[in-house]
Amino acid sequence: MRIAVIGAGTMGHGIAQVAAMAGYDTRLTDANADVLATACDRIQSNLAGAVARGKMTQAQLEAATATLVPVTDLQTAIDDADLVIEAVVEDLAVKRALFQQLDGVVSDETILATNTSSLSVSRIAEATKRPARVVGMHFFNPVHIMKLVEVVTHPGCDASVVGEVRACAERMGKTTILVRDTAGFASSRLGIVLGLEAMRMLEEGVASVVDIDTAMELGYGHPMGPLRLSDLVGLDVRLKIAEYLHRELREPKFEPPRILREKVQRGELGKKTGRGFYEW
Ligand code: NAI
Repeated sequence: MRIAVIGAGTMGHGIAQVAAMAGYDTRLTDANADVLATACDRIQSNLAGAVARGKMTQAQLEAATATLVPVTDLQTAIDDADLVIEAVVEDLAVKRALFQQLDGVVSDETILATNTSSLSVSRIAEATKRPARVVGMHFFNPVHIMKLVEVVTHPGCDASVVGEVRACAERMGKTTILVRDTAGFASSRLGIVLGLEAMRMLEEGVASVVDIDTAMELGYGHPMGPLRLSDLVGLDVRLKIAEYLHRELREPKFEPPRILREKVQRGELGKKTGRGFYEW
């Protein structure tokens, strides 16, 4: 099976890595050649780390590297792909335009999956003439570590497509859950409420960043507090998701707090810029 991953940023490079590690013939592309080069470096460093920790052998590293081909040209990336996984920016118009473009060039059998964390999979599917073969495949960050893939189905989606992407994600070592296409799916909808409430508590001076996170880590057994997690996801990504859920679900609990807007305006986007709620 050949997999093409489009978008080589935070998520795309990780998806390509786990696809290659699972033995899939994998192509990775990005509109920005510099991002693609960085993605390859990150994948190599992740794989080398896995070898150093005894999680994989040098031979497995070499096999994964050989099966993962970075390409700057979209057409080359999707040639003969059985599954295309889109991981470009969280923008409905951008995703719809890309899916429309892909629909015109890939084979009728190719499955088009989106890694959107909150947008409507139905709206993305409607941009194509093959909605039955469009599905959500929502990976988590960092992809090579997080075990969950939320498979998002919509009314027009073919059951066999759901089965195929579940099997594929499971071969990548993931556990899948099946979620109906609703705003925020299961994970983002729950996760955003916790993250936004933590930010509001910080604004109100209820407790410090570290103490709010520690409350969830030690009090509820979360591996990471909601503010640290927001920094890892990217505060710009968090803001976009909150704005979208607020628009779609019309509930005040999804309204982005002032502190989040201000941080994004200042370019404090979390780990990727070196500063968010924490210094990185
Ligand atoms: P990112 O900003 O790190 O990477 C997106 C990449 O897409 C950029 O490198 C950009 O150059 C590229 N791109 C944009 N338009 C393109 C096009 N038309 N063709 C090819 N490449 C294009 O974004 P990130 O964080 O990786 O997010 C990607 C998707 O994954 C979004 O839909 C996001 O909501 C979702 N997601 C993000 C998570 C996170 O923790 N960051 C978690 C789960 C899902």
